[in-house]
Amino acid sequence: MYTTELGKTGPTPNEREDPALVAAFEARVAADEFIEPKDWMPEAYRKTLVRQISQHAHSEIVGMLPEGNWLTRAPSLRRKTILFAKIQDEAGHGLYLYCAAETLGTSRQEMIEALHSGKAKYSTIFNYPTLTWADMGAIGWLVDGAAIMNQVPLQRTSYGPYARAMVRVCKEESFHQRQGYEIMMAMMAGTAKQQAMAQDALNRWWWPSLMMFGPPDDNSPNTERSMRWRIKRDTNDDLRQKFVDATVPQAELIGLKVPDDDLVWNEAKAGYDFGAIEWDEFYAVVRGEGAVAKERLLARRKAWDDGAWVREAADAHEAKRQARQAA
Ligand SMILES: [Fe+2]
Ligand SMILES: [Fe+2]
Repeated sequence: MYTTELGKTGPTPNEREDPALVAAFEARVAADEFIEPKDWMPEAYRKTLVRQISQHAHSEIVGMLPEGNWLTRAPSLRRKTILFAKIQDEAGHGLYLYCAAETLGTSRQEMIEALHSGKAKYSTIFNYPTLTWADMGAIGWLVDGAAIMNQVPLQRTSYGPYARAMVRVCKEESFHQRQGYEIMMAMMAGTAKQQAMAQDALNRWWWPSLMMFGPPDDNSPNTERSMRWRIKRDTNDDLRQKFVDATVPQAELIGLKVPDDDLVWNEAKAGYDFGAIEWDEFYAVVRGEGAVAKERLLARRKAWDDGAWVREAADAHEAKRQARQAA
């Protein structure tokens, strides 16, 4: 999972930066070259990337919580092993991304502290509660599906370590999306009660999934510069449209109804027109007013505190190893 959704204004380019260096950097990016950790880069580029990659990493890690809640209640051993594998993948995504952000000169500790203090953000989607097993289907299908739309273009993002991390992440996200859709398929082939659960999950997750692409383009102040620097390769609205166009037929195929009365195929644009998104709800969730926002942060802080002994043991082991080597 990942988020460009907050639309905050980043630092303005530092006017004291050497114009020749800036021009050379811009030319490399425009020629689709990768920028690597030791290359010169404008401070604003570095800061934007640290913010985006660390938000992305936090989203992967916080995103484990709503699904983790259902591990003990998965309806069969098969479902449990699949869900377990999926959640472990998300931990891996978080780790690759923290590593990619560290190459920009920020430490893991700083990033984790920013998350725990509420200074850093993560995707708003994880501040909604998971009420039934069908939510595991809806999350994989819609939330991981939206993540794929966001992340596929990032395989060609201009910062090398971020782009390379995305290659593996995207392969795994595609498995996540299919396992979610497969849960929905199974439920829609089941009893009336199971079908109602699946429809209810779609009703609750549809709009928050559309919000995952971030504010509309005319209210996304960073988009223009991030596109020029090839940090972002598509606008929020373009990605949202692609997601709607890909997902609506999947819903219809298994007998689900997308909860949008304004949804209609538009022949001229070869895509769907869809209803207005409630952005007030989105901004409220960004401000931390999501139903389970507090619970999520408490769970992360507890995990960090409970894991302190592991970090201490690793440090002690490393100190011993170095002492042995010195002797
Ligand atoms: Fe992920
Ligand atoms: Fe995923």
